[in-house]
Amino acid sequence: MSSKKSEIIKILKDSDGKTVSGEELGNLVGISRTMVWKYIRSLVDEGYEIASSTKRGYVLKSVPDLLYPDEIRMGLRSGLIGQQIHYFDELISTNTTAKELANSADEGTIVVAEVQKEGRGRLGREWISPRGGIWMSVILKPTISLVHASRLTLVAGVAITKAMRKLGVDACIKWPNDILIGGKKVCGILTEVNAEIERVNYIVVGIGINANVNMNDFTGNVKNIATTLWSEIGKPIDRVSFIQDMLFEIEQEYIKFRTQPFTGILDEWISLSDTIGHQVTITTPHKIFEGKAVGITGDGALVVEDPGGRRENVMAGLCIYV
Ligand code: BTN
Repeated sequence: MSSKKSEIIKILKDSDGKTVSGEELGNLVGISRTMVWKYIRSLVDEGYEIASSTKRGYVLKSVPDLLYPDEIRMGLRSGLIGQQIHYFDELISTNTTAKELANSADEGTIVVAEVQKEGRGRLGREWISPRGGIWMSVILKPTISLVHASRLTLVAGVAITKAMRKLGVDACIKWPNDILIGGKKVCGILTEVNAEIERVNYIVVGIGINANVNMNDFTGNVKNIATTLWSEIGKPIDRVSFIQDMLFEIEQEYIKFRTQPFTGILDEWISLSDTIGHQVTITTPHKIFEGKAVGITGDGALVVEDPGGRRENVMAGLCIYV
């Protein structure tokens, strides 16, 4: 959105339902009344409901339920994450676009889409991404070696779970990166890395949240294993304000990640997760085995103890509670 347009919308918002004349808007923004009218028309085309009368001026009635960058920026409390926002109505996948942009993008840049046509989940699975969700990728450029890249998934999991709990839902993390409410999945995280052995070039943390998705948009078995924030809370959430909170939490955890020993985040992860203590079945490309989840390593591997007391660290795989 042009800066003049976003200035106009900010003035109308700050007027709290009061009418602002075209002349006043023009003076405040530094443009003619005709230009004000043109911008207002374009805002209406974008979904803003603005009542206008030739004599009195303009009044903002409602804001569209869309993840427009300007809406996210107004009220953003983070200083790094979300400073640059690439917004799309439809995309193949925000992770794919984020990877294309990553080399030249600033750290903290995010990619958001209302719909993903080929959203991707872990282990090559499809991620159903209809309207109403939050489909987002965050570009990070930490100076770390490849072996520690998986830690960013834990960082994001902790931050998103904290943001969700502020909505009043009992969200918890299931290893490695699912966020569940009442045993059903509300969010998945897909972390993709571009690195040399010694150095990470960038990490794309893809976040998929079933925010205001209509349960009927889920097909097949997903209907039974997924939930949405809308159905858990009983009303649609304000996605823009949730994103602002979530980006703030991600930034807080990311600062800790860069400046403090990782054990702090690991402890937070353990306290927000319900996996440790569960009997689990783990499926990796090589084998399937059952045991008790007894801990998590510094790099996010799940420590699973089999009935004979042998322990195994699992870096990646499918985890099902028995
Ligand atoms: C999972 O399998 O649990 C991970 C799902 C991750 C989905 C998100 S939606 C935004 C980003 N873009 C994608 O294509 N996938 C991730």
